[in-house]
Amino acid sequence: MMKETKLTLGYSQSASVEPFRRLRRTRMTEALRSMVRETELSTNDFIYPLFVVPGTKFRKEIGSMPGVFQLSIDELVRECTEVKTLGVPAVILFGIPEHKDEVGSGAYDEHGIIQTAVRALKKEIPDLVVITDVCLCEYTSHGHCGIVRGNEIVNDASIELLAKEALTHAQAGADIIAPSDMFDGRVKVIRQILDVNDFQNIPIMSYAAKYASGFYGPFREAAESAPKFGDRRSHQMDPANSDEALREIEQDIIEGADIVMVKPALSYLDVIRRVKDRFQMPTAAYNVSGEYSMIKAAGRNGWIDEPRVMMEVLTSIKRAGADMILTYFAKEAAKALNEKK
Ligand code: PBG
Repeated sequence: MMKETKLTLGYSQSASVEPFRRLRRTRMTEALRSMVRETELSTNDFIYPLFVVPGTKFRKEIGSMPGVFQLSIDELVRECTEVKTLGVPAVILFGIPEHKDEVGSGAYDEHGIIQTAVRALKKEIPDLVVITDVCLCEYTSHGHCGIVRGNEIVNDASIELLAKEALTHAQAGADIIAPSDMFDGRVKVIRQILDVNDFQNIPIMSYAAKYASGFYGPFREAAESAPKFGDRRSHQMDPANSDEALREIEQDIIEGADIVMVKPALSYLDVIRRVKDRFQMPTAAYNVSGEYSMIKAAGRNGWIDEPRVMMEVLTSIKRAGADMILTYFAKEAAKALNEKK
């Protein structure tokens, strides 16, 4: 039977002449939802962090980070081949040296762990973008990001060493240099040393607004970089501040940063949005170790639907304004996106 055609307004519930606003209309089917979707994740958004250790055939899972491993260079190359095949364009490397000392010499040794790893990767997988984290905390015996005198983590002497470290990474073939120390003036000295050595075209991704966060705990297990005394509050930012984040970002841009990062991501989505709106720079966000571990732990307990929460979290970081996301979920999320296609 044909439905009777109505020619009068049927908004019986409403005396208003305005049509009843039904925001649900565009949510009724997946096809409609996909048409109005504002934020879409892509495998191109991800940067995969990896931990490199000396030795061969070494692959050890991090207790607090299921699915994340310390890898020897041969294993790293294997892992990166898979990363590239999944459509993830870039990795960021953290190194654990053979020996640690007071001044972190392993960090700027041209035959150091990262320098050797970068050479191997650029030889085997030339078009994978290799980003290197520049910091001293994995290389110093005390676990601090720079030189320590008395109770002070010294700024100016430390940035000289960071610049040396950055240069050796570039000489090994790194595609992007990512200083994560949060000392004042480091982007400037790194830019200078790269430029005078003919690395004008190597971009700097600065950890520009990096907070003193409890969410780095599992990373410090993976990178064996926990400070032996004190903490990082004299250089990393106070979680309470966001105007200060804008000053930090602005300063790094003035000094020559090409990509600016906010870290961690989830407790700082408001900061990501402010940074993107204010500077319109390529903006990265680091979905850090603790953020990963919490989801893994809850997933393993069956308390949350882990794959779903993973995609929700990554989408929220992109929606907040991040152009790229450093995440330990990169491989899993890329697989999920590739399956959807
Ligand atoms: C410092 C560095 C840290 C992280 C990245 N680079 C740790 C720290 O500041 O103590 C943390 C990343 C994470 O938690 O996933 N080299």
